[in-house]
Amino acid sequence: MQGLSMMKQQQLSSLLVAVAAVLLLGLAGAAHGGGRKKLIVSRSEDEPCKKMTVYYHDILYSGNNTANATSAAVTKPAAALSLSHWKNGTFFGLLVVFDDLVTEEQALSSEPVARAQGFYFYDKKEQYNAWMAFSLVFNSTAYTGTLNLMGADLMYEKTRDISVVGGTGDFFMSRGVATLSLVAYEGTVYFRLKMDIKLYECYVAA
Ligand SMILES: *[C@@H]1O[C@H](CO)[C@@H](O)[C@H](O)[C@H]1NC(C)=O
Ligand SMILES: *[C@@H]1O[C@H](CO)[C@@H](O)[C@H](O)[C@H]1NC(C)=O
Ligand SMILES: *[C@@H]1O[C@H](CO)[C@@H](O)[C@H](O)[C@H]1NC(C)=O
Ligand SMILES: *[C@@H]1O[C@H](CO)[C@@H](O)[C@H](O)[C@H]1NC(C)=O
Repeated sequence: MQGLSMMKQQQLSSLLVAVAAVLLLGLAGAAHGGGRKKLIVSRSEDEPCKKMTVYYHDILYSGNNTANATSAAVTKPAAALSLSHWKNGTFFGLLVVFDDLVTEEQALSSEPVARAQGFYFYDKKEQYNAWMAFSLVFNSTAYTGTLNLMGADLMYEKTRDISVVGGTGDFFMSRGVATLSLVAYEGTVYFRLKMDIKLYECYVAA
């Protein structure tokens, strides 16, 4: 009896090794540029495997800025709900689609590093509050590929964290957290967010 179960265990473990090898080969093959990459997982919160700070510029279409605007509301706020708690309105139900410039420094005119492509919508009756999902699309000499971000944008917090849920290309299978803060705005036509991005899982050239 014991001999039999030993044999089963050996067969099982060699099967597991074979499955793991196939999975590893598959991952390496899918990595960007065909080169081998290996996973680095950060061991502590203050030691991300990669970090960067970039600035997101949202220029909203206001009716007469067609050439300059990079985002637009595509739904009307649900007036009854939007105005239910505050006479100025909270934009509840308003969805904005954007293809926004992302730069290295604060100024809108500074070096572009990526586009942020996605949407946000306002989701609270009582106050301004949003939820967003977008890709940072990189196509420069420094990076190509995408980072995909999503989460609650708790606008009343000075800083708020959203998740980096994945990536492609130079950011193959990346995960982490982006800390957002509002650093400038002009009425309802423009705002700028600082994004501190920290990755805790990175694939790097092996
Ligand atoms: C564009 O519209 C805004 C109000 O929405 C107005 O303040 C501004 O003067 C207009 N600009 C031009 C160039 O017409
Ligand atoms: C709300 O609207 C009133 C005028 O209707 C204005 O005086 C007030 O500044 C507005 N509040 C905010 C926070 O915009
Ligand atoms: C990326 O940049 C190259 C070179 O500037 C350009 O030819 C290509 O169309 C760009 N790709 C995208 C997806 O923007
Ligand atoms: C585009 O919009 C931004 C933000 O409102 C503004 O600073 C800039 O002057 C505008 N550019 C043009 C060409 O209108």
